[in-house]
Amino acid sequence: MWKKKDKLPACATENIMEDLIKLVDVVKVYDTGSIKVLGLKRVNLTIKRGEFVAIMGQSGSGKSTLMNILGCLDRPTMGHYYLDGIDTAELPADDLSAIRNRKIGFVFQSFNLISRTSALKNVELPMTYAHISRKAREERAIKLLERVGLGSRYEHMPNELSGGQRQRVAIARALANEPPLILADEPTGNLDTASSKEIMELFTKLHKEGATVVLVTHEEDIAAFAGRIIRFRDGQLVSDELNVPLNQGPEEYETMEKEGTPCC
Ligand SMILES: Nc1ncnc2c1ncn2[C@@H]1O[C@H](COP(=O)(O)OP(=O)(O)OP(=O)(O)O)[C@@H](O)[C@H]1O
Ligand SMILES: [Mg+2]
Repeated sequence: MWKKKDKLPACATENIMEDLIKLVDVVKVYDTGSIKVLGLKRVNLTIKRGEFVAIMGQSGSGKSTLMNILGCLDRPTMGHYYLDGIDTAELPADDLSAIRNRKIGFVFQSFNLISRTSALKNVELPMTYAHISRKAREERAIKLLERVGLGSRYEHMPNELSGGQRQRVAIARALANEPPLILADEPTGNLDTASSKEIMELFTKLHKEGATVVLVTHEEDIAAFAGRIIRFRDGQLVSDELNVPLNQGPEEYETMEKEGTPCC
């Protein structure tokens, strides 16, 4: 038996450091009054810091339910969700929304930008909630828009931008508070093929710069950009595979394979 004075095995401490997401026996029941629907059935899942994961599955398989829990927008009915080592089940609602603001950047299919305000102000918004000064907000928002390739468009309103450009603004907004986790639910669902590819190349760039990205998609071509593909069916995780991402060679795959192997 492990005693407090004993040293933890190296693999155990490594896992605590690296696991950004850990779901343990997560069940989600939607209680609609007359019937109860099982959205997730005992899901166990660990995602390490720096991974790029695609979640796939048919309509109704539980992808958005999972994303809502990962994004602290909803809680599991049973089981535990540890985000960056914090058990979210234990947190009061206020702390949960503070964690959401600090640790998670969201990207949605329909962009969810505020229509009557500029790209710059849209990107500044999460920093306002984080009480960052006006000058610092503006400087950082400009840098973020440059990072997503929209340096010359920061005064444009959303309706003056293409779908792909709007999604870039949404990605810059998601990065505003430097969250360790980017969650994207069908981020290319409203985009044409060329814009979808550009957005996926942007996620690939952010991932290479160190971001942890978890995205939901229905399209194999989009999932192909990720380093790991997880599939759901009827609320259960049915497959979890490493993938050689597009534009990456065998050496990178070997590193991924080593890192992806559980150590204990
Ligand atoms: N608010 C809700 N109330 C009741 N049932 C719900 C609710 N949200 C989701 N469900 C049910 O939970 C299951 C999983 O739904 P979920 O939205 O997670 O699927 P999905 O994989 O995201 O589907 P899609 O690809 O269509 O977006 C489905 O059976 C759905 O009907
Ligand atoms: Mg969904």
